Amino acid sequence: MRTIHVKTASASYPVHVGCNILPQFASHLRKLAPRAAYRIFILTSPRIWALWGKQLASSFPKDQPPTILFLPAGEQYKRLSHVERLATELSQAGADRSSLLIAFGGGIIGDAGGFLAAIFMRGISYIQVPTTLLAQVDSSVGGKTGVNLTTGKNLIGSFHHPLAVFADVETLETLPPRELRAGLFESIKAGIIRDPKLFRFLEQNRESILTGEPAALEHIVSASVAMKAEVVSIDERESGLRMILNFGHTLGHAIEAVTGYKKLLHGEAIAWGMLAALHVSRSRHLLPEKEAVRMERLIQAYGPLPRFRARIPDLLDAAGRDKKNRAGMRRYVLTPGIGKAVVVEDVTDAELTSALESILREAVR
Ligand SMILES: NC(=O)c1ccc[n+]([C@@H]2O[C@H](COP(=O)([O-])OP(=O)(O)OC[C@H]3O[C@@H](n4cnc5c(N)ncnc54)[C@H](O)[C@@H]3O)[C@@H](O)[C@H]2O)c1
Ligand SMILES: [Zn+2]
Repeated sequence: MRTIHVKTASASYPVHVGCNILPQFASHLRKLAPRAAYRIFILTSPRIWALWGKQLASSFPKDQPPTILFLPAGEQYKRLSHVERLATELSQAGADRSSLLIAFGGGIIGDAGGFLAAIFMRGISYIQVPTTLLAQVDSSVGGKTGVNLTTGKNLIGSFHHPLAVFADVETLETLPPRELRAGLFESIKAGIIRDPKLFRFLEQNRESILTGEPAALEHIVSASVAMKAEVVSIDERESGLRMILNFGHTLGHAIEAVTGYKKLLHGEAIAWGMLAALHVSRSRHLLPEKEAVRMERLIQAYGPLPRFRARIPDLLDAAGRDKKNRAGMRRYVLTPGIGKAVVVEDVTDAELTSALESILREAVR
């Protein structure tokens, strides 16, 4: 098991990455919070519980079983109404301020569970046990929690850091291959913006990563988490450096929104967004041709990316509305080379249009 530490102004916690963590989960928990008499609640989805619940539950003493709460899979359940229902269930089951919530599932469970923990009795402790690659490399770390509104994703939320994160890469065995690849694009992002070694590892170990070899997955999860942990530790609230994590995300979010969140998984939309950001970086002669080609090849190597159709004015409009834009200022993350990122504020509509034209030529093929 590898451990990475996240240290921010408001919290400090370990992220454990490895194999065979679930069967020993309760004993890890005892080390984290010894002698505690707190009640434990697990928020999960019916599918994750059916697949992996036994392993996690078997680690608890028979006379102190945790209480299980369920949220069905799907963005449509990542809503305030469900958080209210879950809070009611917590209170009916006797949860109090000392109770501990375990968010056991993908990013949706992590975001909704983290938010539930942030607001139940003004905040209880929680632990992330992510089971998708996306959640392990990205969403379980950094303390952003929240739910969707009908008018947009993640529009209600709060910063609430977990007590710890336990990422058992063995749970990725049952993840549909498309979900695995979608998560890998966030790792590719990590390599592009800050970690040349991770970038090379992704270039050189495609086979073992895509076939889900645990050692390879453990490597990329821990490297991606280390990258995010470092960035979040320097800039917890996204006032500066944390912006670089949005590489590929402004246009990626726009693509997701314009295609109605149906056609593409988040990571796939981000892959298209990264290709567009590479186009802008390269057209400005910020990014040397050779490195641009390596980056594009790496993204394609973990495809194929699903095709989509969209109108450029709709994409520009959606990108302009991205909540990461500040007071009308459009910020974009570009890359000057492998392992580097810069935030710029002067990207023009013409540059974006040209980048979008270039990816749409591929996307509608
Ligand atoms: N908080 C953050 O910083 C942050 C960052 C990125 C994304 N997010 C959020 O994360 C969410 C997406 O997360 P996601 O990609 O994990 O999606 P998800 O939670 O919907 O999981 C994807 C699918 O995989 C299934 N699944 C999960 N683990 C499995 C396993 N081990 N075996 C088989 N099936 C499994 C789920 O039931 C679901 O159907 C979005 O809501 C997004 O907004 C948050
Ligand atoms: Zn993302």
